[in-house]
Amino acid sequence: MPEAAIEFHRVEKHYGGRKVVDGLSFDVRVGECFGLLGPNGAGKTTTLRMLLGIAAPDAGSIRLCGEPIPARSRIARARVGVVPQFDNLDPDFTVRENLLVFGRYFGLSAAQTRALVPSLLEFARLESKADARVAELSGGMKRRLTLARALVNDPDVLVMDEPTTGLDPQARHLIWERLRSLLSRGKTILLTTHFMEEAERLCDRLCVIEEGRKIAEGAPKALIASEIGCDVIEVYGPDPLALRDELAPFAVRIDISGETLFCYVDDPQPVLARLKQRDDLRYLHRPANLEDVFLRLTGREMQD
Ligand SMILES: Nc1ncnc2c1ncn2[C@@H]1O[C@H](COP(=O)(O)OP(=O)(O)OP(=O)(O)O)[C@@H](O)[C@H]1O
Ligand SMILES: [Mg+2]
Repeated sequence: MPEAAIEFHRVEKHYGGRKVVDGLSFDVRVGECFGLLGPNGAGKTTTLRMLLGIAAPDAGSIRLCGEPIPARSRIARARVGVVPQFDNLDPDFTVRENLLVFGRYFGLSAAQTRALVPSLLEFARLESKADARVAELSGGMKRRLTLARALVNDPDVLVMDEPTTGLDPQARHLIWERLRSLLSRGKTILLTTHFMEEAERLCDRLCVIEEGRKIAEGAPKALIASEIGCDVIEVYGPDPLALRDELAPFAVRIDISGETLFCYVDDPQPVLARLKQRDDLRYLHRPANLEDVFLRLTGREMQD
């Protein structure tokens, strides 16, 4: 395996005359977890589809496990496991049958896959569901089955499009723990997510894309330090505009999103002193996080 498990170099993709991926470059090193973040429609899924050889780029070059894509995508894909944005399990088959069918795609015999099934089910905590039909599973169980299925070929690289969207907090924490265990076994992970906590916890590095262009890249902590670099006080309550005027002299910056005011402060004390006198407000003083970075870079308004 070369040093970079994934290489994207100035990749472009157009749909109907519109550039949806626009000169995108990034590398994912062997053994790291790399996050692709961006608002709805930013081009994350399109990027992954090009990486897997499902969609053809209009310009630029892509390598996956050292193989040029799309020319040798079949060869590269043998070493890759995929969790698509929307589950494509067969609802009429059982959990076990879904795994068996997938093993066949990778050229495994039924006996070979059958031997793997117990460990895959254990990994996904689905031991008791082996003979349940997929249609009977909860959303979290389906997601875990999709993850187990992506491991059938013992891949070096996992490509996951929003692995935890739609899951409750317990299910999400379970998936995070499973992904950590894959990383500790030396797997490389490329994932997309809308959960900043997920990116902050799991990703060694990430890039933020908007309208198909990279707008930031780095380790989560470094991005938080460079893009925000101070504490945040969130305030909820009536009339955020008037409050903004009152707090502005003591803040580095103030953003308003709906009924929440985000006050960026080097010294929180003057702002906290004023807020303590107001019993009509709720507020929270916290360190800056990746969500602040994301919203700072992409704006606090809805995009699509
Ligand atoms: N096959 C297609 N034909 C035409 N337009 C497409 C096609 N696939 C994607 N697009 C457009 O490309 C843009 C990027 O879509 P993409 O699905 O890659 O975004 P995304 O970042 O994955 O968004 P989300 O977070 O909502 O999943 C969108 O404007 C989408 O409408
Ligand atoms: Mg998507």
